[in-house]
Amino acid sequence: MQNKKQWLLGIGMSCLALGSQAEGQPEDMKRGMELMKQQMVVMSPELVQKANALSPEIKKFLMHVASRHERRSDTLTLVQVMHEILAEHQMIGAAIATDNGAMAADAARRLALHRLPKGGMLPYLPIEKVTTESLSVLPSMEMAVEGNAQKLAEAAEKGDMVSAAHHYGEMTAGCVACHMHFRGQPGATAYTPRLKQ
Ligand code: HEC
Repeated sequence: MQNKKQWLLGIGMSCLALGSQAEGQPEDMKRGMELMKQQMVVMSPELVQKANALSPEIKKFLMHVASRHERRSDTLTLVQVMHEILAEHQMIGAAIATDNGAMAADAARRLALHRLPKGGMLPYLPIEKVTTESLSVLPSMEMAVEGNAQKLAEAAEKGDMVSAAHHYGEMTAGCVACHMHFRGQPGATAYTPRLKQ
């Protein structure tokens, strides 16, 4: 187990690695780098090491996510953020079913720009999933969920509820894909061996 000093050194080195990467990048990336540094402060030494070892592309993607989502919580966990996302998802379904384009568009935009949990996403994933290979699926998941949520909002605003319903399906497929990849059955424990953990 590393001591506090080594841990802080680890964070410092991670930030250096991020820093050299964000050099010459647009403002968006510089801001993303600052935010990633803040996220790393709440991570354990083991997780900081894993985060530091990620490829430049994944780090860049995580910085992009951190800077694009302007609602960042200092207290909420990923499960709590997911419950909020679920509430938006259900609201969109209700709006489509009742031909309420304005309601669907607003909820879809909130979903696309959802809140970020404390420390970002990495602290909530199984540690063995914090690898370049495992996280390389993230950009396509983001496209599926957030890209389709934006398209859904535009279609719903124009009153095109058939397209909105179509994007709703594609967006939901993104939720499913990410859950299949990163988590087991909600609530499964070591004492429920037949359930997927
Ligand atoms: C980038 C990957 C990713 C995407 C995309 C994603 N989720 Fe999740 N979701 C997770 C992870 C990981 C967890 C488990 C978090 C934990 O247990 O700490 C989770 C958990 C949840 C939970 C909580 C279940 C429980 O244990 O209470 C709900 C509800 C949920 N997601 C809904 C959604 C919906 C709806 C969407 C699509 C609009 C979505 N998620 C998209 C990764 C994702």
